[in-house]
Amino acid sequence: MRKLIIDTDTASDDAIALVLALRCPDVKVEAVTTVAGNVPVEAATRNAMVSIAMADSYRPPVYRGCGQPLWRRQITAQQVHGQDGLGDRGYPDPGIPLEREHAADAIARLVQENEGIDIVTLGPLTNLAMAVRLYPQAMSKVRSITAMGGQYRQLNPHWPCSEFNILVDPEAAQILLGAGIHITFVPLDVCFGAAAFDRQELDALYALGTPQARFFVDCNRTLIDYTLAKYGYEELIMPDPTAMACYLEPGLALEKKPAFTRCELQSVLAPGELVYDFERRGGEPENSALVTKIDAERFKKMIFDCCR
Ligand code: BDR
Ligand code: CA
Repeated sequence: MRKLIIDTDTASDDAIALVLALRCPDVKVEAVTTVAGNVPVEAATRNAMVSIAMADSYRPPVYRGCGQPLWRRQITAQQVHGQDGLGDRGYPDPGIPLEREHAADAIARLVQENEGIDIVTLGPLTNLAMAVRLYPQAMSKVRSITAMGGQYRQLNPHWPCSEFNILVDPEAAQILLGAGIHITFVPLDVCFGAAAFDRQELDALYALGTPQARFFVDCNRTLIDYTLAKYGYEELIMPDPTAMACYLEPGLALEKKPAFTRCELQSVLAPGELVYDFERRGGEPENSALVTKIDAERFKKMIFDCCR
């Protein structure tokens, strides 16, 4: 069974990614670590606990991590995911205890202790950057990192060149990219089109009537309303579940492009833009792969099966 650490700034789509992983029979989630991003880290931690309870499978330990980006002023996305990050539905605190260890310490310790552990990141990369700076030897043993992050077309109306998770803490992204650990990026691009959920699909999901199906739609209502009103989207994109699905089902990523990737740190117009050098003519080593095509039908089947 594959072992997994999930690092998350838990808001409404992270929540579904957590449920998906916790209900997957092939993977054991060893820890959930939280970070500031979509919401402050306290809310992210609480939301991770709500999501774990909602998955109704088992309860991995939860470790709180960094409450600020490494250097920049904090940005949240509460207008997108709700003030509480879960659509302001008033989900009760499930009473899951919080571990005392800091997330960055816990990540490195678990990587050291468990041979061949994988990490999926669903938020800014602050905790992972801290872990590789503090424990470079231990972190070099991580088996794989799959990150929801980046975009290669101009998709985000606020920041045409950047995607939220990287934009929030570009320095952290660059530290991780320079750490000699391979990262598979699942960018925003593959979450649109056939991978997004239209009204009919959301209704069909809700009609399943299970707590998980209801949770999927209910906690994402703020996101649905916001993207509809603000951007005119007819469909709901699910970036974090898409990234999680690419990890859980390795065949889901139909196309991956190896690259030497760096993160833009100086720019006014494009802070946090990931710059992919696919040709690597300068002889730089491959430090990442970019997922450019997924099996959207299979992704949606995974979501429906998980919620049944
Ligand atoms: C990322 O930002 C958040 O809105 C989502 O949780 C996802 O991690 C997408 O840009
Ligand atoms: Ca997220």
